[in-house]
Amino acid sequence: MKKLYIKTYGCQMNVYDSARMADLLAPLGYAPVDTADAADLVVLNTCHIREKATEKVYSELGKLKRLKTRRAEEGAPLLLAVAGCVAQAEGAEIMARQPAVDMVVGPQSYHRLPEMIARIARGAGHALETDFPAEDKFDHLPEEQVVSGPAAFLTIQEGCDKFCTFCVVPYTRGAEFSRSVAQIDKEARLLAAKGVRELTLLGQNVNAYRGEGPDGTRWTLARLIGHLATIDGLERLRYTTSHPRDMTEDLIAAHGAVEKLMPYLHLPVQSGSDRVLTAMNRGHARSDYLRIVERMRRTCRHLALSSDFIVGFPGETDLDFEATLSLIREVGYAQAFSFKYSARPGTPAASARQVPEAVKDERLQALQAILTEQQNTFNASCAGRVCSVLFEKPGRKSGQAVGRSPYLQPVHVEGAAHLIGKLREVRIAEALPNSLRGVLADNTDATAQRAIAH
Ligand code: SAH
Ligand code: SF4
Ligand code: F3S
Repeated sequence: MKKLYIKTYGCQMNVYDSARMADLLAPLGYAPVDTADAADLVVLNTCHIREKATEKVYSELGKLKRLKTRRAEEGAPLLLAVAGCVAQAEGAEIMARQPAVDMVVGPQSYHRLPEMIARIARGAGHALETDFPAEDKFDHLPEEQVVSGPAAFLTIQEGCDKFCTFCVVPYTRGAEFSRSVAQIDKEARLLAAKGVRELTLLGQNVNAYRGEGPDGTRWTLARLIGHLATIDGLERLRYTTSHPRDMTEDLIAAHGAVEKLMPYLHLPVQSGSDRVLTAMNRGHARSDYLRIVERMRRTCRHLALSSDFIVGFPGETDLDFEATLSLIREVGYAQAFSFKYSARPGTPAASARQVPEAVKDERLQALQAILTEQQNTFNASCAGRVCSVLFEKPGRKSGQAVGRSPYLQPVHVEGAAHLIGKLREVRIAEALPNSLRGVLADNTDATAQRAIAH
């Protein structure tokens, strides 16, 4: 067997792609390993979203070059591939800057890796595949998937047509594209048969999903969710990432109608200021976002929200920033990600007048202080409640298992090691800074607590 090491950066879609690359390379005799040291093939699956993410790739490549030289001296050659969004955006530059790289492959062409490896074995030199190919990569990926636990990702939509002025994704992932319902249905059933209980449907704009249905019409995400909920074995459904503009009525209604759909929504808003939202080309106002949140909460009483925020977008004033803080206070988030604006080559906002770094630092700190406080409050509010937990892996202590609550909080439970892969009701005993501690709730306990909660 040859050894394959894949290092993944960036979003869940890259996590999904990395797993599929491993599936694709398995028939060639590659087995996954945990470090680059002994690998025959190293794939860096990269992210281009912020400058730091891209820089990491080049520094990692420097290290791998040294490893490659050493391995060549030992007579055990190492193949080096760069995949993902940096590969797509800077393929030729990577080749020029780091000649140790053998292959560069974009997110829409990684199904071609086996033939690229064959080409290199024939001594045909470096291989670069960053076109957006006419064929659908999903048609060329193997059906067989290695499943690594009861919670899995399934990419249903890719690419983005929204062109927010700060963002590289439309350039690295290409135009919006939805997989067919038949293809998704098949993959979901295979995963369920392998023990997957929770499925997270992925897309850069997942709620813009418009895949071809078996009846020839275009299905919405809500309809797809309703369908997937009928698959035996699948107990929980999630989807990410959503754009506020595509939060349609039927999707909101699904949160009230589909019990398997988790009461948790990642709905990035980026900013609470209308001026900034317009400059970002987000296509909605602050009030639109607040209205969606209100409608969602009316439909799904136990809904919790998360979001992404950018501070220091070009032209963001103190007043704009205050508007973001006030939106955060108004909504109340269970969790959130926040970033300093990072100018990305080729995007419209990169050439605008930039906010000084010190101001960005200050704003990020202030914003994160509120978000952390909200997260702590939310976690604390879970204490005493009974919720479902999907046990995913053993905990640090013997007999302990760690699972996820409906809100993706890690929950540690003693004496639950035998329940890994299963969903159980758990009474939350204590909220810790980044996780919860719970005890298994028997049925009577669960019913009693539920009655109190309602
Ligand atoms: N499709 C998703 C987000 C994908 S990128 C959406 O529309 O919400 C994930 C997050 O990275 C974004 O929500 C944004 O907060 C952040 N991000 C994207 N480009 C950025 C940039 N240039 N600088 C800082 N953060 C950025
Ligand atoms: Fe980027 Fe905006 Fe598209 Fe999200 S919607 S991927 S932030 S361009
Ligand atoms: Fe990064 Fe590409 Fe995802 S830029 S966030 S890996 S879509």
